[in-house]
Amino acid sequence: MTRTREHWGSRIGFILAAAGSAVGLGNIWKYPYMAGQHGGAAFTLIYLICIFVVGLPILLAEFAMGRRTQLNPVGAFRTLSGNKTWKWVGFLGVSAAFIILSFYSVIGGWTIKYTFLALLGAFGDFTPGSDVSARMYDAFINKPFEPALWHLLFMALCILIIARGVKSGIERWSKILMPLLLVILVVLVIRGITLEGSMEGIRFLFQPKWGDLGASGVVAALGHAFFTISLGMGAMITYGSYLQPDSDLLKSGLAIILLDTAIALLAGIAIFTAVFAFGENPAEGEGLIFVVLPTLFPQIPGGSIFGILFFFLLFVAALTSAVSILEVVTAYFIDEKGWNRSRTTFLFGGIIASIGVLASLSLSGYNILSPLGDLTFFGLLDTVSYKYMLPVGGFLTAVFVVVRWGVPQFIEELISGTSLSRAPVPVVTTFFVVAGLVVAYILLSEVWVVVKSWFV
Ligand code: TRP
Repeated sequence: MTRTREHWGSRIGFILAAAGSAVGLGNIWKYPYMAGQHGGAAFTLIYLICIFVVGLPILLAEFAMGRRTQLNPVGAFRTLSGNKTWKWVGFLGVSAAFIILSFYSVIGGWTIKYTFLALLGAFGDFTPGSDVSARMYDAFINKPFEPALWHLLFMALCILIIARGVKSGIERWSKILMPLLLVILVVLVIRGITLEGSMEGIRFLFQPKWGDLGASGVVAALGHAFFTISLGMGAMITYGSYLQPDSDLLKSGLAIILLDTAIALLAGIAIFTAVFAFGENPAEGEGLIFVVLPTLFPQIPGGSIFGILFFFLLFVAALTSAVSILEVVTAYFIDEKGWNRSRTTFLFGGIIASIGVLASLSLSGYNILSPLGDLTFFGLLDTVSYKYMLPVGGFLTAVFVVVRWGVPQFIEELISGTSLSRAPVPVVTTFFVVAGLVVAYILLSEVWVVVKSWFV
């Protein structure tokens, strides 16, 4: 049976969908709190360098592999390599999709809960510095069932979008949600910079304090560059596979990276202007969004509205990213097993949702890993994918282009359908070699930290 592959309806539709994948909890939740912990501007600068040195080549490689083969990651590696070994890199990606989505959607559930809390005025009498919001957050994530139910609701929304397909599911919703996200973010940035004392927040974000940036900050910046552009597990191979041959990959790739970076920086501005205006601690860590911000909204004129907008923004960003992860799994079963889209999406979306329930429960004392020590199941999924599977996937993608597919073939695909002239092979090869070395460095330093901890 031959099927006709679905394609994006327009160039802007593709850019918004891919930017929707890239812009997520990574930009609005994780980037600001990591920058807060690792010296603000110094961290930001390293992160920006990594995005362009490592992120851009690997993003373009993923797009080119997808468009060339019109297949999911497993099919793309198999077809371009002409042997059976490389397809395991694709499998690594599909497995990473299962793992990442099952904890990502737990936080996705929290964003829905917090949007409702904001709507109901639950932050109304919080004051900066008091611990009421920390208690509210702890009480919520320590409940066994409630967070799991919000997670299931979040997964249900993802499944409904993916079941509709590429054009009328992913593209349609990205075209509605991404512009909405930008408008909300701009409103929040304007509110932030017009607060008294906000400039200190801007300075924190843009004036490097090198002393606060240690080796762990550099490694975190490198790892984050991967996560934030959705690299290393074939999400961008999958989205690239729905492109027609005539699109300009370089221009689209640059647009996506610039949008992703701009949105992370804008989120940083919206958050740190408020954090500094009220003298809060920028290095609060993971609780910066769910604990500190709820105490600030009541102090800001019109704050209850801005609180609702903020958590809704976080939810929208998480949803358009989560769908891109589910699509990797769905595309694999459609292409390789010939399954139909809605059956695949409901079945595997359901399996991921069930693993996610275990991840959610593990934060509340029902941790299936508790016989093994302190590690939660949630923490395990997060660490394994974020620190290891994505960098390994990205590294192998760079190696694949250089040693197997071939840099000339990559360049051919990159410029096909455009008027770009052929870039010299040695220059492009150097980009991939540098990207590969940087990623190998992240991986080795992570492994080194673990090995060292065994001996002390
Ligand atoms: N990039 C998203 C974020 O910043 C997360 C994400 C979506 C992702 N798809 C991915 C990460 C694929 C790695 C691989 O939140």
